[in-house]
Amino acid sequence: MSNEHKYVLGQSARAARRLELQDRHFAAPSEALLDALAVLPADRVVELGCGPGGLTKRIVKRLGATGRVTAVDASEGLLTEARKALAGAGNVSFVRADVAQPGAWLDGATVVLGRAILHHVPMAEFLLGRLKATLAPGTRIGFLEPDFRRPLIELSRAHAARPELAPLLTFAKAINDLYSAWRISGAVGASLAPAMRDAGFADVRHQWHPFATDADVLENMGLIYEEVRDTFASLNIISSQEIDEEQQKLAALAVGDLPAVWGLHLAVARL
Ligand SMILES: C[S@@+](CC[C@H](N)C(=O)[O-])C[C@H]1O[C@@H](n2cnc3c(N)ncnc32)[C@H](O)[C@@H]1O
Repeated sequence: MSNEHKYVLGQSARAARRLELQDRHFAAPSEALLDALAVLPADRVVELGCGPGGLTKRIVKRLGATGRVTAVDASEGLLTEARKALAGAGNVSFVRADVAQPGAWLDGATVVLGRAILHHVPMAEFLLGRLKATLAPGTRIGFLEPDFRRPLIELSRAHAARPELAPLLTFAKAINDLYSAWRISGAVGASLAPAMRDAGFADVRHQWHPFATDADVLENMGLIYEEVRDTFASLNIISSQEIDEEQQKLAALAVGDLPAVWGLHLAVARL
């Protein structure tokens, strides 16, 4: 697989640990996604961009003996972590593939879903069009996609009275700049539901799940800074020394009433 499809935030066991932490603060919207898709015991689920398998575990819990999940990812390192996390689960298979190019792994799917995957795909709308052309009518489709911009009006307003919130704005800008530099689809979550409606998907539903900036979310930001420290510096987004300073400012924030920095869009539909 070419470097083009490398996960921008890293392939390592450290990335897997961060995604495990992230699975905890994604818990409520993740269960909401599976509820909205009405995942049933006999479903044949295809998960796009499974990473280390946090959402896969939640899907497996909903399946019965005849249900199956095919978990697809481009990163061999993260698939290895997912295989470990799902060891013993009989109804999971893993496929290494670029999800932007639908393949035989979609055959027979009754549900196609993904969490925090579309924003990593350049021109993610092309993938949705390919899925619409490929999948059988009636297939349920759903995504959770992050948005690091929607909460920023409120964050910026709060910052005017609380200068100590500056490291939250710096982090939001850095992550948005990273996605732009990689030419991926950082803002896809916000337009997903109306775009699916325009394209004739049926029964389109949308929810916005902002995250309170609690200790887990702050720790995740710190881990992201460490994971992509060198990339941030090489792209002139934020230097290593500035990251050190930002890490100290984040650590000094008092958890309790910090405004949201990011959240997840939930969008589901039927073909
Ligand atoms: C933010 S992680 C999310 C992982 C997992 N869905 C979760 O929520 O824990 C994004 C995942 O998408 C995978 N990915 C990114 N681009 C991909 C592509 N074009 N094809 C397949 N997987 C891709 C990465 O390897 C990574 O595992």
